[in-house]
Order: sequence, then C-alpha cells, then structure tokens
Amino acid sequence: MKVLSIITQKGGAGKTTIATALAVAAQKDGKEVAILDLDDQATACFWGDVRQDNPLPVKDIKAVRLPHVLEALKEAGCDLVILDCPAVHRDIAMDAASPSDFVLIPTRADVFDFRSMRQTVDLMKSVEQPCAVVLNFVPPVGQEVADAREGVKSLGIALCPVELHQRKAYARAQQQGLTAQEAEPSSLAASEIAGLYAYTRMQLEEESTHVAIASSA
Ligand SMILES: Nc1ncnc2c1ncn2[C@@H]1O[C@H](COP(=O)(O)OP(=O)(O)O)[C@@H](O)[C@H]1O
Ligand SMILES: [Mg+2]
Repeated sequence: MKVLSIITQKGGAGKTTIATALAVAAQKDGKEVAILDLDDQATACFWGDVRQDNPLPVKDIKAVRLPHVLEALKEAGCDLVILDCPAVHRDIAMDAASPSDFVLIPTRADVFDFRSMRQTVDLMKSVEQPCAVVLNFVPPVGQEVADAREGVKSLGIALCPVELHQRKAYARAQQQGLTAQEAEPSSLAASEIAGLYAYTRMQLEEESTHVAIASSA
C-alpha cells in the first residue's frame, strides 16, 4: 500500500481538489483507494457526502489515529491512501508526511508566496520525505509563474512537470462531489489531472530511486 500526502501550509492552494482528483484517477486505474481527511474543515468529507456515483471512501480522522487507520487500510487491501491535510498545522503536516511514500506540495502560482512554500518544503526536508511542488492556479500569462518555477528550483526541490492552470472546471466539479475529469472529460483540466496522476504514480512506484533529501540541503 502506498501513501500520498497533499500538504501545504497555505489554505486555498488546491490540496483537496488535487486529493480528490488523484483519488478518482487512481480508482479509474483499478486501485483500491481511500482519502483520509485530516482537516477540521472536512472539505474532502463534504465532497464524498455529495458524491453520488462511484462512491469513494473518505474518512475524517485525527492525525493521532493515523498509524492505526493506515494499518487497518493496509490489512483491508487498500492500494493507495491519500492524506488531505489542513493549512497551517505544522504538527499534522509532520504526522502525515512521516508515513508517506510521496508528498505533493501545491502552490498557487498566480500569487506566488515563496515564504509560505518554503516553510512546507523545510518541513518535508526535516522528515526527509520525497516530495515535489506542483504549481496550481497557473494563469495564462504573467511573470509570477516564471518566478515560481525559479523559486522552487532555488530550494533544490523537485518541481512537478505538470502544472494545473486556473480553470473553472475544477471548482464546478468539486461542488458536485465530482472531479474535473468526470464532469468535463474532454476539458483541459481533465488532461492536466491525467498528467498529474501519471507523474504521481511514477513517483510512488519508483520511490526507491528517490534520493532522500538531506535535511541539510
Ligand atoms: N486550478 C484551479 N482552477 C480553479 N479553481 C481551483 C483550482 N484548484 C482549486 N480550485 C478551487 O479553489 C478552491 C480552493 O481549493 P481547495 O482544493 O479547497 O484548496 P485547499 O484544500 O488547499 O484549501 C476550491 O473552490 C477549488 O475548487
Ligand atoms: Mg482542503
């Protein structure tokens, strides 16, 4: 069983959107998948509650129960668990990162906030977890995106080659308990999620080839 965490210290960066979209992509890929919602706002749970077809297990749990719940999911034959984390909570981010095989750090590229992204990256370095920053809300034009790419590279951290652009399809689908690839299968958002899933699956499968990030890097 693989564990993927979606972590960033900023709210509204797209953590839940990415967690749900990747979970649905994994399910379509034939995997037994579950989302664990560690955020008191329970956005992923609400998404699961209004979802009608192809139900997908979403559980809200306290981070302190994570080891037990992960063990139970493993025994139940789960292939992939996605941890949807809250903003700000450093302790929960650490609890989620520790058992994870890979961590995605979504960052808004339209209002690039280097300091906030760096806090999350430093946290991941401290637990030596393989991770990558994924740029979200990428605008069609603007210097911020180039700055964001450079900012990520300057930290010596992987930058996901797939970027998610600012698209209405993401928000529209989310409100209906769907994902962009389900609500609008031929949309550009759907292609972006397909690319992000392929990238993430590769990272999870090839986790042994990752060089652990030295905390001193
Ligand atoms: N690439 C995007 N384009 C447009 N809207 C997006 C995009 N990514 C996320 N959203 C929307 O932005 C809002 C915040 O996203 P969410 O995933 O809940 O962030 P977080 O979980 O990090 O707080 C939601 O309404 C979501 O549908
Ligand atoms: Mg969220």
